Amino acid sequence: MNIRIAVTDDWKDVRDLYLILLKNDPDAFADEYDTVFALMDQSWIEKFSKDTEKTFIAIEDNNFVGMGEVHFQEEEEGVAVLSKLGVLPDYRGKGTAQELIFKQEEWAKVNGATKIRLYVMGDRARTIEFYNKRGYKQTEFLKNDFKKSNGVYLDVIVMEKSLTLKLI
Ligand SMILES: CC(C)(COP(=O)(O)OP(=O)(O)OC[C@H]1O[C@@H](n2cnc3c(N)ncnc32)[C@H](O)[C@@H]1OP(=O)(O)O)[C@@H](O)C(=O)NCCC(=O)NCCS
Repeated sequence: MNIRIAVTDDWKDVRDLYLILLKNDPDAFADEYDTVFALMDQSWIEKFSKDTEKTFIAIEDNNFVGMGEVHFQEEEEGVAVLSKLGVLPDYRGKGTAQELIFKQEEWAKVNGATKIRLYVMGDRARTIEFYNKRGYKQTEFLKNDFKKSNGVYLDVIVMEKSLTLKLI
């Protein structure tokens, strides 16, 4: 398995992967399948040229099997946010998400982040445990904070991890 930052030419493969992830686990993500499906090609192309946002992709047998996005929070200096973490069901349980997070954290650190934040939607004890084990602590619980297009409200758990740059 290889992990790298997506470039403009990858946009169609990243979009297709994200659409599959959204279809499989619609409540795990803030985005909705239909909205992402309707996004203009240009929005995807522009996305990969930003300096403040990167999408990491996991590749196995020449297929994109996992992804995770990291971007800097605009109003809060030093805060990077992880989002859109997902691995195709057939490839789960092999450390791919762990490796994606590691690369995202590394990129955030090198680019000046002192803290990483992420949001877990709905009732996802297993996902929270996954992040706990990797050093993230719950900082907020927002009851019914996110409204899906079908009218259902989901709780949002905010998790954070402080970063320290190791100097050698
Ligand atoms: C959560 C997810 C990214 C983990 O991917 P992965 O490559 O299997 O993760 P790893 O192999 O690195 O680690 C496996 C861990 O994921 C945990 N996990 C969390 N949610 C899981 C899920 N829905 N299905 C399977 N495993 C899950 C396992 O318990 C395991 O924990 P452990 O290593 O502490 O025992 C993947 O299950 C997924 O894409 N889920 C749906 C989307 C999602 O929930 N994204 C997170 C949004 S906050």
